[in-house]
Amino acid sequence: MTKLKVAILISGRGSNMGALARAAMDPDYPVEIVLVVSNRPNVAGLDLAIEHGLTVRVIDHTEYDTRRAHEAAVNEALEAVGTELVCLAGYMRILEEEFVNSWKGRLINIHPSLLPAFRGVDTHERALEKGVRIHGCSAHFVTAELDGGPIIAQAAVPITPGDTAQTLAERVLDAEHMLYPHVVALIATRKIRWAGQSVAHAREVGVKDLAFMLPLPGQN
Ligand code: GRF
Repeated sequence: MTKLKVAILISGRGSNMGALARAAMDPDYPVEIVLVVSNRPNVAGLDLAIEHGLTVRVIDHTEYDTRRAHEAAVNEALEAVGTELVCLAGYMRILEEEFVNSWKGRLINIHPSLLPAFRGVDTHERALEKGVRIHGCSAHFVTAELDGGPIIAQAAVPITPGDTAQTLAERVLDAEHMLYPHVVALIATRKIRWAGQSVAHAREVGVKDLAFMLPLPGQN
């Protein structure tokens, strides 16, 4: 099996990177993780990546004069290992248009809300504040518009009356850890691809591949 060469960009805890790394331990998973890049030194995600035997690079943004120069260094590292798909996983930097355009259709993100609701940060707090009953996470292609690229797949998570931002974040994170490796596999097996403003998928891809509903608490 030819495996898709995937690189993961992180800035912190790296639990989504960990989920991808666990999936990639399965010999049948169609992905090889060729590199993990962190823009911050000494973050937990780096230790986790090393525990999984992954190659890591710290490309510290504070050591570059401009965002553009930092991203050029990231780009060079990605290209040096033959990266075919870049996965953002808690990468807390807004990417310049130049970087995004050069990886167009080969750059994805996992976001902790049901987009297009709650772009940006503090999604769980904002979902609770607004009183939405269903929250969740989205995997999407990245464009220059923050959290605005074509949505690939989503998982819906019900909000329960006792939820806090913390409990909600934990349940959404579990959904992210299921959704992201699934979506990466769909791309690796060419079942999903970027089609400009939308996402094209193979005929065999159905709703069960793209829309997940987590059970109500007590119903699983
Ligand atoms: C996740 O909630 C992800 O959706 C968001 O940032 C968080 C990163 O968590 N983009 P982790 O670093 O993967 O644990």
